[in-house]
Amino acid sequence: MKKLISNPEAHYHPQKRPSGHEISKSFAKDNGGAIPSNLLQIPNTDSNGPYLSTCKALGLKGHPARFPSQLPEFFIRFLTEPNDVVLDIFAGSNMTGAVAEVEKRQWLAFELQKDYLATSVFRFVPNVLPLENKKQIYEQIMLDIGVDLTKVQTQGTSLSLWRDEIQ
Ligand SMILES: C[S@@+](CC[C@H](N)C(=O)[O-])C[C@H]1O[C@@H](n2cnc3c(N)ncnc32)[C@H](O)[C@@H]1O
Repeated sequence: MKKLISNPEAHYHPQKRPSGHEISKSFAKDNGGAIPSNLLQIPNTDSNGPYLSTCKALGLKGHPARFPSQLPEFFIRFLTEPNDVVLDIFAGSNMTGAVAEVEKRQWLAFELQKDYLATSVFRFVPNVLPLENKKQIYEQIMLDIGVDLTKVQTQGTSLSLWRDEIQ
């Protein structure tokens, strides 16, 4: 392993193994011969992020059991490549989707409670969006009206274009 790390190109070429496992360039990373520890110690200090502050400002209940961002971040970086699809079947406030987006993965979120999904949208709109517009988006989701977030644009703090193509 030490020889390989000192001169990776002399010892292997990134390729797919017969098992289907893809040996990528990162195989040559020096982790001291070990995969990262499976004990994750993460402080849960996210009490003032845009998600919670928007929930609070609108008098809505934030999800009570949110992941700290470092938890999905660890697994997404460890197990997926950019553009892969990450699915969280118990999405809650969809921290997983938010991190997947930052990490340039695609994502799907399943959640039983619509209000949790509706408030999770606050993770995906620009924080400078006026509160009243965030509320409208939330209410549309609660009414099962689709919202195309690619149409949410801000110019300074004024909102343009987002109601036009909803069904
Ligand atoms: C611990 S929370 C997940 C919190 C999430 N990791 C976050 O960061 O916000 C589990 C979620 O699973 C949802 N849930 C429970 N049963 C479900 C089901 N059968 N299908 C989809 N979601 C479900 C609950 O409503 C709850 O929001």
